[in-house]
Amino acid sequence: MAFCHSLWLLCLFIIIPVFVDSASHDKELSLGPVINVTKHLSFLDFNFNKDPRVFHDVRLLGSAKFSNEKGALQIPDESKAVDLKDQAGRALYSSPIRLLDPQTKTPASFETTFAFQVNNASHLSSDSTGHGGSGLTFIIVPDEFTVGRHGPWLAMLNDACEDDYKAVAVEFDTHQSPGFGDPNDNHVGINLGSIISTRTINVSDFGIVLNDSLVHRAWITYDGPRRWMDIRLGSKHEDYPTKPIFSEQLDLSPFLNEYMFIGFSASTGNLTQIHNVLSWNFTSTSQAFLRVPSTETCESKIIVEDRSGTRKASAEPPGSFLIFVAVVALILVVLLSLFLNSKRKRDKSHNLNILLSEKKERPRPPNKPRRFTIAEISSATRCFSELDILGNDSRGVYYRGKLSNGCQVAVKRFSAQFLNSQGLDRRRVMKEIGSISRIRHPNMLPIRGWCQDNRQVMVVYDFFTNGSLDKWLFGVGVLPWTRRFKVVKDVADALCFLHSKQLAHKNMKTTSVFLDVSFRAVLGDFGFVLSGNDSKQFESAVSQKADVFEFGVFVLEVIAGRKRLDSEMDQKERDLLDFAWRMHEIDEKVKVVDGRMGTVINLKQAIRVLEIGLLCTLNEAKGRPCMEEVVEFLTTEGPIPELPQSRPIALFPYNSATGLCSGYSCASFK
Ligand SMILES: *[C@@H]1O[C@H](CO)[C@@H](O)[C@H](O)[C@H]1NC(C)=O
Ligand SMILES: *[C@@H]1O[C@H](CO)[C@@H](O)[C@H](O)[C@H]1NC(C)=O
Ligand SMILES: *[C@@H]1O[C@H](CO)[C@@H](O)[C@H](O)[C@H]1NC(C)=O
Ligand SMILES: *[C@@H]1O[C@H](CO)[C@@H](O)[C@H](O)[C@H]1NC(C)=O
Ligand SMILES: *[C@@H]1O[C@H](CO)[C@@H](O)[C@H](O)[C@H]1NC(C)=O
Ligand SMILES: *[C@@H]1O[C@H](CO)[C@@H](O)[C@H](O)[C@H]1NC(C)=O
Repeated sequence: MAFCHSLWLLCLFIIIPVFVDSASHDKELSLGPVINVTKHLSFLDFNFNKDPRVFHDVRLLGSAKFSNEKGALQIPDESKAVDLKDQAGRALYSSPIRLLDPQTKTPASFETTFAFQVNNASHLSSDSTGHGGSGLTFIIVPDEFTVGRHGPWLAMLNDACEDDYKAVAVEFDTHQSPGFGDPNDNHVGINLGSIISTRTINVSDFGIVLNDSLVHRAWITYDGPRRWMDIRLGSKHEDYPTKPIFSEQLDLSPFLNEYMFIGFSASTGNLTQIHNVLSWNFTSTSQAFLRVPSTETCESKIIVEDRSGTRKASAEPPGSFLIFVAVVALILVVLLSLFLNSKRKRDKSHNLNILLSEKKERPRPPNKPRRFTIAEISSATRCFSELDILGNDSRGVYYRGKLSNGCQVAVKRFSAQFLNSQGLDRRRVMKEIGSISRIRHPNMLPIRGWCQDNRQVMVVYDFFTNGSLDKWLFGVGVLPWTRRFKVVKDVADALCFLHSKQLAHKNMKTTSVFLDVSFRAVLGDFGFVLSGNDSKQFESAVSQKADVFEFGVFVLEVIAGRKRLDSEMDQKERDLLDFAWRMHEIDEKVKVVDGRMGTVINLKQAIRVLEIGLLCTLNEAKGRPCMEEVVEFLTTEGPIPELPQSRPIALFPYNSATGLCSGYSCASFK
């Protein structure tokens, strides 16, 4: 008996450390050994003859150039612009810098020094009316391809930047825009995610004139752990001004992603001037843990299942081995206790019960889509507040929301008009929502759940910070070709997967495509429409063909950087689909490609993708491919079917209001 007892204790000793270890696992990860990661950049000047690395290290966007004569980075680019008014440009360091620890939300510490000069445009100096605006900023932004608006926006923000666009800027503003809260035409401002400065400093008080054509030097120091910012401004020869122009507590963490791009932006408005950055040093120190923990965001909590099973979005912590050991040990204990049970008093198994009940909590269920109550949605969207509206279309309104667990979501509330439209069977709509929410793909917007009563139908999606594609495509910033190509491929993958499951999207357009933080495209805002009459199989086959057609139009929009119907264009180019076919007929497809992308574009690839897009808009009987073929055309280099010399027949639009195709598409299927 004494022997059995000690064996039992021994087992407990084995098992308890295992539990302790795996229970403290998450904590231990975030408390791992801390190291300081330092990044240092130094540009003594921007003369690319002396230092060709500037071409590689600094990315110019919009109107910006390197001036060899001055050894400076100049915004705007005088040599290109005929008229220097209303120019906007950026120069960013080409790699992102780690500026936030996502676990502890501690911003990195950094210090930057740069010498700058604001002067008149050389070839316009005779024109005395136009001098004097707008300003230069040191910016910290989430991406390396957006250019902000000109004028008082200082190339900092544009229409694509939503309310929660993360950006930090220190502006050196030489133009007073009363609408933006500027105190005068000679101030420094601190901008946190907004063009309206959080703080402004009248630098005339310090005897400084920003636009006096002299070289100034700025020092911006940020202490991340203390959340303290210090800004000093001096002249070229001054070593370090003793008195800061700003020195206060400032929490940048809400305005930072883990990785951000740093650099300069500047703009001109009605008045012009040239902003020169003559040299630049930057050093950041961020704290990192040696064992990098998984960043637990709302998105990563959902296990993304790829059909092939090769990709797994949520990184499983390496605790599974420990859990395995624990389970094996537990089984041993259970067997042992069964064996001992007959010889032992009841109360001794008490300890075991505690262990067993602890065990039950271990495996976390995946975040399954579920039904939400109206009350939950209502509180998440602050009673469907107008402030939370993200967008709307013929089917309903999109709201931004925050669930009680803090997760950000987007809620699509279908309009009564849409729900009451003819032939729409609500029960089947709910079933369709159910089937789509069960499938997962890395390029499909995860559905968190739905909400329904006898008047309402709502679908709850994950919220994507970078918003929908149309904002990036039709806004002021220019999405580069490589990103556009990736978006097309991502969306094709998602549609192909959906079709392989006998489902269809039924609302394929640029506003249904969302971008995640790394600009991966995900397809959302599903149509969910089923007419009451047709059989499910028939309906899905028809809808899939309509999806391919709409995908073709989508591809054209992505390449051309404009909407399908653009009322601002002249009559001949108004309908993009029509225009693209006509350009194909006269072999001038290059004219369809968005000119704003400039020369940094693989034109051959763009034309090939354009042809794939046109193929998708063919009549079904005349060679419209299926999505599987489209994916193959996009991922391989092989030949694609030849397009007919001219557009076969008049193309009837697809009725996007009901999501059901009308005209030739269905007719030819029947
Ligand atoms: C990291 O840097 C901070 C100051 O930024 C310093 O206090 C700390 O001692 C450094 N840690 C290590 C491990 O060097
Ligand atoms: C950058 O650092 C170098 C030396 O590290 C120094 O010579 C230069 O003046 C600095 N530039 C600025 C703008 O502070
Ligand atoms: C720049 O323009 C202003 C305003 O017309 C003028 O007063 C100033 O002399 C000019 N500066 C230079 C360097 O040309
Ligand atoms: C600097 O700004 C002042 C006030 O707007 C303006 O009068 C002056 O002409 C500007 N100087 C230059 C060189 O542009
Ligand atoms: C800025 O400072 C100058 C010099 O101290 C002063 O004359 C001017 O009124 C100030 N402007 C504002 C808007 O405070
Ligand atoms: C720019 O100038 C034009 C005409 O000179 C004027 O109509 C417009 O309001 C000005 N814009 C700004 C932002 O000052």
